[in-house]
Amino acid sequence: MLKALRGTKDILPAEMGPWLLIEQYARDMFPLYGYKEIRTPIIEEASLFSRSIGEYTDIVKKEMYAFSDRGGRTIALRPEGTTSIVRAYLENSLSQGQGLVKLFYIGPMFRSERPQKGRQRQFHQLGIEAIGSDNPFLDVEVIAVAVRFLEKIGVKDFCLRINSLGCKKDKINMIEKTRQRIKDYVDSLCGECQERYKKNVLRIFDCKRDSCREAIKDVTFETVLCDDCNEHFNAVKEGLERIRLAYVYDPKVVRGLDYYTKTVFEITQEDLGAKDAVSAGGRYNNLIKELGGKHTPAIGFSFGIERLILALERHSMALKSPPNIFILTTGPALYKEAFMVMDVLRRRGISCDIDYQNRSLKAQMRNAERSNVRFAVIFGDEEFCKNKVILRDMEKREQKEVELKDIVDEINREVAEKVPKCY
Ligand code: HAM
Repeated sequence: MLKALRGTKDILPAEMGPWLLIEQYARDMFPLYGYKEIRTPIIEEASLFSRSIGEYTDIVKKEMYAFSDRGGRTIALRPEGTTSIVRAYLENSLSQGQGLVKLFYIGPMFRSERPQKGRQRQFHQLGIEAIGSDNPFLDVEVIAVAVRFLEKIGVKDFCLRINSLGCKKDKINMIEKTRQRIKDYVDSLCGECQERYKKNVLRIFDCKRDSCREAIKDVTFETVLCDDCNEHFNAVKEGLERIRLAYVYDPKVVRGLDYYTKTVFEITQEDLGAKDAVSAGGRYNNLIKELGGKHTPAIGFSFGIERLILALERHSMALKSPPNIFILTTGPALYKEAFMVMDVLRRRGISCDIDYQNRSLKAQMRNAERSNVRFAVIFGDEEFCKNKVILRDMEKREQKEVELKDIVDEINREVAEKVPKCY
């Protein structure tokens, strides 16, 4: 039997609930902060990613799906969203007439990693990018969007860790200092980290091997920032405190992509363990210039949607598929009336369905129960003779008779609040 590729997954209808919920909350919430949706292609020229993410990063060196197309161009499946957004920003002159451009995106990304819980080869990101300002309050806003979103969808026990990598000069200093500090531990590191020590020493902190993590766990790390970057970082921390966003300063948050400068952050969650972040982001003040634009500071983050869902799994409330209404009838004679009610409900934005298989009432009820239906409207012969139907609350297992002429209003009044509108 043909199977989905390793590290990729079908998202089945029964699993769609949290996906829709997360996407809908994002589309409702991000515009409140001024972010507008953008969709970019899944394929790009591979060189775009090596220039932005960095040639020696794991993402580009080991994980990027790159191939030659029929025209001999080297194409890559995008491993992340930021680079494509910046390309689109430059190509479409999105900055024209606007100081700051705020965008959000939702879509699949591809990295050839070893699949495990919360790590796939095709995964989905939900992210925002704010391009055009170095104001530290923008950093606070971007971090606040991430944290408030997690609160809104009901993720608990998460930890926000922040750091500043400083400007280009600070980063070079930091790389040099880190190299000196790690020097004595190099022999205990894996072969890859020994290579990283030479070419990209900060990436050692991203190594997922326990032995490497153990070897460098005592390496003290102190970020020395220039006055400007220090002031910026202090303003970010103060801003977070002002709006009561709890954070931990963690100098080991150095991020796995080369484009970062100044503020960087990661959000981890207890259920996922500390290795894999549910969300990560930071400033990338030099990237737009490096990709051919004017100097334009920018900041953003992205969530991994699969990880958001894992983080939510303990809190089953938020994961329930949207409840709806099932219409049950004792036979085709009552179908026409039932169909009219269903049509009105759907036009009012209340999701409902009916049995098309002429099954017994008992079988229809079993089906309604299995499908997690919240309410059932039963068109029974006996009640129908009295111009009535039964409205059954499937969760409370309570039911009452309602006049047929009142059923839509009754559902609207009593039920509509508990049943989400169709999107
Ligand atoms: P990243 O840390 O590489 O950053 O990925 C962001 C998030 O994507 C991670 O925190 C994780 O939740 C999710 N993720 C990454 N790889 C996988 C995977 N293989 N399977 C499942 N989830 C995964 C970026 O991509 C940056 N573009 C974030 C950013 C936006 N920085 C500024 N703006």
